[in-house]
Amino acid sequence: MNELQTELKSQLEKFCLAKIEPFMEHDDETEEFRMSIFTELGQLGFCGITLPEEYGGAGLTYGDCAVALEEIAKYSVAYSVTTSVSIMVQSIINDFGTAKQKAAFLPSLTSGSEIGAFCLSESSAGSDAGSLKTTAKKVEGGYNLNGTKLWITSAGIAKTYIVMARTGGEGSKGISAFIVRDGAKGLSFGKKEKKMGWRASPTREVIFENCFIPDENLLIGEGEGFKVAMAALDKGRITIGAIGVGLAQRALDESVKYSLTRQQFNHPIFEFQGLQFMMADMACEIEASRLLVQEAARLYDAGTPNSKIASFAKLKSTDTAMKVTTDAVQILGGVGYTREYPLERFMRDAKVLQIVEGTNQVQRVVIARQLKKEYTTH
Ligand code: CAA
Repeated sequence: MNELQTELKSQLEKFCLAKIEPFMEHDDETEEFRMSIFTELGQLGFCGITLPEEYGGAGLTYGDCAVALEEIAKYSVAYSVTTSVSIMVQSIINDFGTAKQKAAFLPSLTSGSEIGAFCLSESSAGSDAGSLKTTAKKVEGGYNLNGTKLWITSAGIAKTYIVMARTGGEGSKGISAFIVRDGAKGLSFGKKEKKMGWRASPTREVIFENCFIPDENLLIGEGEGFKVAMAALDKGRITIGAIGVGLAQRALDESVKYSLTRQQFNHPIFEFQGLQFMMADMACEIEASRLLVQEAARLYDAGTPNSKIASFAKLKSTDTAMKVTTDAVQILGGVGYTREYPLERFMRDAKVLQIVEGTNQVQRVVIARQLKKEYTTH
């Protein structure tokens, strides 16, 4: 970690301990999202951390962003994921938007006064995102959107939505990307999903019924939407990886601290080799995951993004988060399984990291396709 990253980490640690940690058990129970926390993260510069300063961002790297999201995830996966998805939305507008679109939509997102959401998945188009059915029919001056998006992180609390909808024929080439603002006529939200984890982060359906979107809100051009989504997910997968690292690190921290004080058979349980080996493996897997996330971010920052390495990072870190949080519950034993300690929440929060932004099976598909390319072109 460089000096700036050490400073970011320490600033976030103080913020999260004071402003997030005290509420997390309560908010997990009541499924409450506090906009004030997100806005304060924005005031500190974290909600638009990778965006250019010209649009209110902090102009930092994906490496810096990964350090920040890892730190927030130690306290709350919900706020880390809200920030990560909102950054992905901003990166889409910044990478593919016109100067007018950037000026109109970015500042409120970079400042953290508003949240962004990404609408790709549908009930019959999860892993097979290219089969989505939401339509965008050309009408005078714009498009009429019809269809329903499912499992949308921050739906209902977000103000800016990137929506993938079909303007052409079947398959990925018929998909376009639109910027949709909350309040658009014909836009509504379904019920809040009752989830196992990420309970402070709302997930809802996003419903379009003859929802008119002006021409000026189309991104790049018709038929480019699938590539926009895939390129964004390459970056999103780095940030989800960083969240997995933070969550796993916190679970290890809690396990070591607990096992050093918990006495059984007249010894702290840390002294038993069976547990030492578990914690040594946890530490090793977390560091390996962190290095992969940092490498994926470094490649992106160097202008040589690599989907395979981004998928490595997401796959390894989120599988590690699941394994480490499960083992952490085991180390704490009975109390680990209760809400007296946060470990059971960490375990619940880890599960969906293996599913979002491409299931870990999809990550293997991306990796295998790249391997095939590499081995057949050399
Ligand atoms: N960058 C740019 N373009 C890309 C790309 C990338 N990473 N990956 C693929 N493309 C392009 C291809 O080059 C191809 O273009 P051409 O036709 O011009 O050659 C086009 O996109 C289609 O590519 P594929 O044939 O590879 O597409 P596919 O239908 O076989 O799908 C897939 C591949 C990897 C399985 C993809 O569908 C996928 O990633 N699925 C998972 C979807 C996903 O991650 N959903 C997450 C939902 S969002 C979420 O979870 C966020 C949240 O709220 C937390």
